[in-house]
Parts: sequence; structure tokens; C-alpha cells
Amino acid sequence: MKSKGQTKSTEAASARRKSKVKSNKESFETFAPLENKTIVLGVSGGIAAYKACDVASMLRRAGADVHAVLTPNAREFITPLSLTTMTRNPTHCEQYEQSSSWKPEHIDLAKKADLILIAPATADILAKLAGGICDDLLTSMVLASQAKVMVAPAMNPTMYGHPATRRNLDILQNTFRYDVISPEFGEVACGDVGSGKMASVESITAAVASRLLAHKTLMGKKVLVTAGGTREPIDPVRFIGNRSSGKMGIAMADALAGRGADVILVSTVEVNRAYNVLVVETAHDMQEVVEAEFDNCDALVMTAAVADFRPLRVTSHKIKKSESGDLVLELTQNPDILDLLGRIKRKDQVVIGFAAESEGLLTHAADKLQRKNLDMIIGNDITVPDIGFGSDDNAVIILGSDGVRESLPRMPKRAIAEHLCDHLVELIARIDESKAEEERDAGDEG
Ligand code: CTP
Repeated sequence: MKSKGQTKSTEAASARRKSKVKSNKESFETFAPLENKTIVLGVSGGIAAYKACDVASMLRRAGADVHAVLTPNAREFITPLSLTTMTRNPTHCEQYEQSSSWKPEHIDLAKKADLILIAPATADILAKLAGGICDDLLTSMVLASQAKVMVAPAMNPTMYGHPATRRNLDILQNTFRYDVISPEFGEVACGDVGSGKMASVESITAAVASRLLAHKTLMGKKVLVTAGGTREPIDPVRFIGNRSSGKMGIAMADALAGRGADVILVSTVEVNRAYNVLVVETAHDMQEVVEAEFDNCDALVMTAAVADFRPLRVTSHKIKKSESGDLVLELTQNPDILDLLGRIKRKDQVVIGFAAESEGLLTHAADKLQRKNLDMIIGNDITVPDIGFGSDDNAVIILGSDGVRESLPRMPKRAIAEHLCDHLVELIARIDESKAEEERDAGDEG
């Protein structure tokens, strides 16, 4: 149960958000969830070092001030120039490099950091960290810092499974309280298959964001997310589909999982994630799964591009050209999943929809918000080139039933997802607060 103080802080946050409400498309604020956060990105010498550029870029685009530090071995795999370009800050390599400041480099950076992320972390650096060895700039910095340390191991599966590595990870995790971002199972650079492949760039940035934004948690909340475009079969070979890549829904599910939510992703696109992923094909399959899960969920985020129509008849055999001249398909309407669930949602559930429009974005999105009884709708203009379908970026408007109106400029879908998580945290906090109030009132009456 929340205290009165928390009520006030929720109201204040709500008021702050409302004061940011924009009435026209031009006047938006740039969204950067990791703004004011300083991250030291340590890179050790393994083949996955090349992925450090993507990690750096993603963190920087999320607003973080990123400083790369390379171990001497990492320089065999990646150049300081690449990381300087991605972080837009000088890259540090030498423990005894000349500095313009009188303070030793590693102490300076170590004090400044909110978080030290080592990605990739080789078996060697894990061993050094576990043993307190500091024979280069990165290991010295870790020892000299009070910041949270996260490591993303990447190595050959046999090395990862070796008792020495297991022991070192155990020390780092359980004695030093470092966060270990577990590697994935798959084929590693040397061709071996097993656990040791560095976690995906998205998973690493999600873990970092969740650590740095831990106060905006969704721990204990169950959220259902749909992603991708449904496929409606014509015959065993052909289907009617759409251009949705599923990237927005997957970014949303990743961001929610990063905030600690218990996520169920109902997707037409297969992804390998630690949370529950249920793969479906048709609108009907999606409806069945979503309806079965909805009752137990605190929120539904419906990013999927659900086909509005499906062929009335599906032939069990492949339709031959010789069967007829022109083929006429009769289509019938699919149920609108969001509309159905918007109607039956309880007042302790949040339902968020998406609207991809080619004209009248604001009018159509506002209409769908009201018609489908949603708490929030995210609209995007599909006629804008290079964003939306298939792209890693999007630009959206956000309309809330509580009066929220925001316009987010072009940014990575993951950043949009983080912002939507912030909204969801607030919407759920309001529900929790009114539940607590009702309980207090019931207690007073009794
Ligand atoms: N949606 C759904 N079931 C459908 C169609 C859409 O659940 N059969 C959901 C989508 O997941 C999205 C929202 O409804 O969150 C809006 O989808 P969109 O296709 O933009 O709108 P429609 O309601 O289909 O309206 P219109 O055909 O007028 O654009």
C-alpha cells in the first residue's frame, strides 16, 4: 500500500507530464531516457568487441554520456577512432596517458561514472576483476569506482563453462554484486555452438536502462504485448500479409522486461528472448491467445498490425493457375481484438493501441482512442519516408484518455518504447493509488 507522500509524488509527476502536453506537432521535446547518465563502456579483447560500437551508439542515442575504455587486447579488434565516433567522446586506452587535467584519468572517469559496462567481457577480464588485478586502465578504473558494474561475457562455450570462469562469475555476482548480462546460446566466432555468444545489443542496452531507471519499475506487473503483422492464408502456400516487421512490439516487450515486468509477447515474428514469446500466424490465432491471457494482465499493448480481412474460404490444396482465369478472392472481416478487449477491460487494466495512418493522423488516432475505449494510443504517419514499417526508427504522436498529447520526433523504436514504459508506469501507479484509496475508504466505513 502506498503512503500519502507517494500519492503526492504521483500527482506531481502527473502534473509535470501534463505541463509538457503539446498541442501542435512542431513543439515537442527530444526524449532521451538516459540523459544525465554517464556510462563508461569498457571493451576487452574478444571478437565481439566490434559490437561495442552498436552498444555505444544505442546508449548515446538514448541520451547517455558514453566514454569508451579499451584494454590493450581490445585494440587488436577495434580502433579507438570507431568508438570515439560512436560515443562522440575521446576513447581511453593507456593507463598512463598524458591528460590535460592533473587528476589521474582512471580516478576522474571512475568518479564520474553512474555505471561501468564491460561489453564484451572476456574470460581474462572476468578473472582479473574477480582477483582484484588492475594492470590496465579499465581494470584500474573498475577498482577505483563506486559505480554499478555490469559485465556482458562473450567467449568460447568451453571457456564459459570452465570451472575457473564459473567461479569468477560467482565472485563477481555474489560477492561484488556486479550484474552479469548472460550470454546467449548459439554459434560463436570459432564455429563452436553453446553458451558464450554475447547478449544482443538490445538486451545489453535494456539491462543498462533498467539498472539506471530502476526507480521506474514495473516489477510484479504482467504485460501482454502483440507484435508483427498477421498472415491470413489463401491456400497452403499463399497468404495475405502486411509490411509490419514486429520491431516496435519487440522493442516494447524488451523495454518492459527491462523494467522488470512479467512480459508475454504474442508475435507473428519469432524472437529468442528470456520472457514468454507465443508465436501466432493469423488474426484468429492472435485473438485466441490474447483473449486467454488478458484477464490475468495489468496491461495490454497492441502494436500488432492485425489484418482487418481474411479470405472467406481457404482451400486445402494449392490453387492452380489452370483452375480459373482471374482469381477472385472473397474477403470477410476479422474481429477487432483491441476493440473487443477495450470494451471488457476492467478499471484496473491499461489498454494501449497503435494507429498507423496515411492521412488525418491526429483525427483518426483520437477517434480510435475513444471508439476502442483505450487509455492511450500511439499514432504514426506511414507516408513519412524511411521510418515506420521495417525501420529501426519511428516518429509518433501519443494521445491519452487523460488528456496527454505528445509528439516524439524521429528516434529509435527502443527509445519510443522506453518513453511508453514511463507512461505505463504512471498509468499503473494511478490505478494502484486509487485501489489503495478504495481500500482505505472501505476500511474507514467498516
Ligand atoms: N487492431 C486489432 N484488431 C484488428 C485491427 C486492428 O486489434 N482486427 C488493433 C491494432 O493492433 C492497433 C489498433 O487496433 O493497435 C489500430 O489498428 P488500425 O489498423 O490502425 O485501425 P483499425 O481499427 O483497423 O481502423 P481502420 O481500418 O479504420 O484504419
